[in-house]
Amino acid sequence: MSSPMSEPFRPCFHYTPARNWMNDPNGLVWFAGEWHLFYQYNPLGDQWGHMSWGHAVSVDLVSWEELPVAIPEDARHWIFSGSVVVDWANSSGLGDGVAPPLIALYTGAERGAGAVQSQCLAYSHDRGRSWTKYAGNPVLDRGLADFRDPKVFWHAATARWIMVVVLSMADRVAFYGSVNLRDWSLLSEFGPAGPAGTVWECPDLFELPVAGRDATRWLLKFDLMRSAEPGNCVPVVLVGDFDGTTFHPDRDAAGTPIWQRADQGHDFYAAISWSDVPAADGRRIWIGWMSNHHYTTAIPTAPWRGAMTLPRALSLRRTATGDRLVQRPVSELTRLRRPLPAPHLLSVAPGAAVDLIGSQPAPLACELTLSVADRRAAFALSVIGADDMRLVIAWNPAHAILSIDRSAGALAANPAFAARASASLETAGIDLATPLDLQLFIDRGSIELFADDGAAVLTMQHLLPDRDWRISLVAGPDPVVAQMTACALVQP
Ligand code: FRU
Repeated sequence: MSSPMSEPFRPCFHYTPARNWMNDPNGLVWFAGEWHLFYQYNPLGDQWGHMSWGHAVSVDLVSWEELPVAIPEDARHWIFSGSVVVDWANSSGLGDGVAPPLIALYTGAERGAGAVQSQCLAYSHDRGRSWTKYAGNPVLDRGLADFRDPKVFWHAATARWIMVVVLSMADRVAFYGSVNLRDWSLLSEFGPAGPAGTVWECPDLFELPVAGRDATRWLLKFDLMRSAEPGNCVPVVLVGDFDGTTFHPDRDAAGTPIWQRADQGHDFYAAISWSDVPAADGRRIWIGWMSNHHYTTAIPTAPWRGAMTLPRALSLRRTATGDRLVQRPVSELTRLRRPLPAPHLLSVAPGAAVDLIGSQPAPLACELTLSVADRRAAFALSVIGADDMRLVIAWNPAHAILSIDRSAGALAANPAFAARASASLETAGIDLATPLDLQLFIDRGSIELFADDGAAVLTMQHLLPDRDWRISLVAGPDPVVAQMTACALVQP
């Protein structure tokens, strides 16, 4: 039998199920020392279908243990995306009197002509290992064909549960309130608003501190399955305020809601955040599905299809252009780092290149942090794999644009996959002579690139063969000086 690491593109840093299809993360909850990751899963094959909730747990957000399917499909419903909360006070009355129940709210999706999507409830008394579907399901039904992805949280100020859920084809988010997780009443609706695109999916709403200020703001996130960019899905973030009933986004001078993209790459979708993270930890952490509806079925992995991104801790940074989302890979991942042999100062002459890793054989995967001394110099990081397949990360200082080009790799013939991703970094108020800090997780099959301490993130699948690859820093017309500060290599 082959080991997972002998399977091409099996990631080292990212969660994948052993077999079969996976899409959105679902039901993220911390409970009794475990980080739970439920997800959209087809127990019967490697294409979307028979949707059920798969399940994995972790004690450190770094390594994951896959558990049996948690909530299987049934005769009436496929089990679409949703969330889990700990019902500490047994408000639902569904506890066993011993410990607080875990309550899942998910979309029950009927199939065939006239199919309706409605919100259903299931509960667990054994730390999420087994689930009972509530006899009174569905708990929220508007008779709509596209009404899905409930995310639930406890809102202390109004002492009730809030559900954020989308009317996908109407491009609206609806907010519901409940005192018992079973009876829900409509509070307000938001949308259409934000960037052009349609089919809203997978909302989340939470409060975040603004770094360095005695302030918190609310962040509403949803995803556009069909965006204005051909072949791309877009994770949309709006910062604003939530008064317990209505979400009020920050608006520009013309009154238009100000939106930002959660990730500038093409493979970060359907992210939701963990519920019930202990106060002593205090982080807001989310994870996304590392793929894209436009080409996911063409991803050549076997016997599984679908991966999660790294878990990311979130905060807001006040900038000259508003409160901006900041995402950093969770600090637990630094445990994988090993000391660098020596401070790694790289000095590259104009037009020249230096190798960053140099180890033979090449690692399976690596994390690199790189501080480029002066952001006015153009440079590229070129990842070159077997058969001259390559992935090019480029910094264009004239426009402050960081880009990832995967068009010279696998699936080059697929126009959606071959597209180049770019992020424009904040320039307002930034001294252009300061360093540009990059953190790269180059895994088998994917890259996550964090820039400017998490102000911009690009997540891309790349599908470069993992043997004999190398990464070099290539200077543009000016010399480039960079310091490599940390490094984690996964050796074959
Ligand atoms: C997002 C999504 C959700 C839905 C689920 C079905 O990727 O389309 O809206 O609940 O996937 O698998």
